[in-house]
Order: sequence, then C-alpha cells, then structure tokens
Amino acid sequence: MQQIAIFASGAGSNAREIIRHFQHHPTIRISLIVCNKPGAGVLQIADKEKIPALMLEKDNFFRGDAYVETLKEFGIDFIVLAGFLWKIPDALIKAYPGKIINIHPALLPKYGGKGMYGAHVHESVIEAGEKESGITIHYVDEYYDHGQPIFQSTVAIEPTDTPESLAAKIHQLEHKFYPVIIEEILNKPNKG
Ligand code: GRF
Repeated sequence: MQQIAIFASGAGSNAREIIRHFQHHPTIRISLIVCNKPGAGVLQIADKEKIPALMLEKDNFFRGDAYVETLKEFGIDFIVLAGFLWKIPDALIKAYPGKIINIHPALLPKYGGKGMYGAHVHESVIEAGEKESGITIHYVDEYYDHGQPIFQSTVAIEPTDTPESLAAKIHQLEHKFYPVIIEEILNKPNKG
C-alpha cells in the first residue's frame, strides 16, 4: 500500500476529488489530511470521509522537524499539496525527495511565486490580457512554484471571462487531471 498525505488549507475541492478517486484503489490510500487553518473546509471533508487530520503549528512546522516524525508514524510515502500556502521547509523536502507535488492554477513559470495564489493569480492573468491559462502540476523544491513540471493543461480565456469564471474553469481542470496524474506518478516504477 502506498499512503498519501494531502496538505490543504482551503475549501478542499481538490482534496475531495482525490479522496474520491482513490476510495477503492487496491494499492493507493489517502491516509492523512494536513492543514494549517482551523475551520478550513477541507477539515469537514476529512471528517466526513473518516480520514485523520493533522493540524500544523507554525513554529513546529518551520523551526522543528516539519512533522517528519508524525508523517512517518502515519506511514506516509507521498505528499500532495492541494491549496497549501506555506512554503515547504527543507526538512520535509529532504525527508521526501521527489515525493512531494503541487498543483498551481496557472501555466508556470508565468504567474507563479510568492503571493501568487487563489484569486491573485486569475486577476493577474485577466489583467494581462492573456488568451489562455491552465494548470501546472509540478514537483516541489525549496522555491515557490519552481520544481520540475510534470503536467500542464490549458483553457481558453474568453473576452467575457472574469477572475471568478476563470477560477471555475481552472477548478474543473484541476479536478479532472490531478487525481489521474497522482495515480500515474505513483504507478511509475521507482517512485512512491
Ligand atoms: C486550487 O486552485 C489550487 O490550484 C491552488 O489552491 C486551490 C485550492 O482549491 N493551489 P481547493 O481548496 O482544492 O478547492
């Protein structure tokens, strides 16, 4: 069994789709939700799906061992970031080399980096008059939105699109592709 922890601190719609996708999977299990925001929507999803949730404390995450011990105790092999806004500390990257991935709601390397999250991304894309946007799934390294890209998918931006309508289109792409790409990565020999 390969066990995944999903790090999420928002509404958790990606987490929900990933949980659904792997619900009856023979070899891959979502074993833990890791969250830094009390009251986040993703916690209700974890509760409903009976998946344990680990709440992070900022000091322990950044000055301690980044909860590596706890993740190992849960038997976590692979980490999926889905709306997790804190930078991943080196201790965690070293403990899970090549085994942490993120999804970004734009076509990296454009519209990435510190502060480029949520509505900020879509507002910037629309303001710049881009004709398309999309999603990027990538490995996580020590810089924001920087690690090796794994997958991109694009969507056209119509003149009538707003940041909100673009966000909705992007969410659809995320839900469609993130679970499948996670499965592909974990099925590759020598990963996971
Ligand atoms: C997604 O758009 C993801 O790309 C970004 O944060 C958002 C999370 O949305 N990193 P949700 O909490 O999964 O609904």
